[in-house]
Amino acid sequence: AINSGNTFRVASPLSNVTSELADIDWDNLGFGFMPTDYMYIMKCAQGENFSKGELQRFGNIELCPSAGILNYGQGLFEGLKAYRKHDGNILLFRPEENATRLMMGAERMCMPSPSVEQFVEAVKATVLANERWIPPPGKGSLYIRPLLMGSGAVLGLAPAPEYTFLIYVSPVGNYFKEGLAPINLVVETEMHRATPGGTGGVKTIGNYAAVLKAQSAAKAKGYSDVLYLDSFQKRYLEEVSSCNVFIVKGNLIVTPAIKGTILPGITRKSIIDVAINQGFQVEERQVSVDELLDADEVFCTGTAVVVSPVGSITHQGRRVTYGNDGVGLVSQQLYSALTSLQMGLSEDKMGWIVEL
Ligand code: COI
Repeated sequence: AINSGNTFRVASPLSNVTSELADIDWDNLGFGFMPTDYMYIMKCAQGENFSKGELQRFGNIELCPSAGILNYGQGLFEGLKAYRKHDGNILLFRPEENATRLMMGAERMCMPSPSVEQFVEAVKATVLANERWIPPPGKGSLYIRPLLMGSGAVLGLAPAPEYTFLIYVSPVGNYFKEGLAPINLVVETEMHRATPGGTGGVKTIGNYAAVLKAQSAAKAKGYSDVLYLDSFQKRYLEEVSSCNVFIVKGNLIVTPAIKGTILPGITRKSIIDVAINQGFQVEERQVSVDELLDADEVFCTGTAVVVSPVGSITHQGRRVTYGNDGVGLVSQQLYSALTSLQMGLSEDKMGWIVEL
């Protein structure tokens, strides 16, 4: 990409033509779907390995009504982002981590998965083919959504005979409508996101359908989202519908340990390292809901939400507030450290950035 003043001219790898940035309102990106130019598709039969994929014009896909994904939810998704730097370079953040997580999830869901190399190459190709949709620096990012699904037909319950790996992208801004302002959570006491031995620890599509009811009810009452408790003792924090949770007490930062029911977030893992590097003490352990009462700050992490400060949490009618109506200092500090790395504004000492 070539940066001439405020205009980025992007070269399409497919057509050899130079095109302008997409003509959209870059100043008001939210987290909504926007169709782009190309998607990546790779298929393989059960028992075989993925071998060769290709870019196709973005559009609807055809599935047999009896496809494993439609009937039995045999599917996983991933999420990562590409940022455009001021010098025009494009940056990915730890894409091999998404590839590894997809492989682990595929094993749990009885699916073949692309290798780490295939995954990363496919992500790169899809991002480059859609380069004109990557927001200008500071305006947002290109959200990359890989899907892995049982696309072959089944009727009796069994792994599908064919699998499709697909990647599409969409330009995004802030996830929550609050933008970067603190969000208000409510603790869910009846419904649970995951159970021991279930699939809470993998990014299976069904985990996200399962939280819609509690999330919708919370939103109808004016909350931003739901904080789930463990399904056994109904006492320990798990995660929010779309992100992991952290609490801050002085120099100590605590987050629920990954024990099968919690999604192993890549932002979660990165924030733990960033916080340790900045001199915080970090504990991954069981976190009782009572610990919310004396926390200084609470924040959520995820690819989509990045680092989102929490302004209040309501549990059994009792509302605890954080950050005095503003963003807590620690949340702000960790948000800035992570996003400056992701946007290429600070030195990547961890080797997390993949430059295209
Ligand atoms: C992400 O943060 O990338 C996710 O996959 C969460 C999703 C619900 C938007």
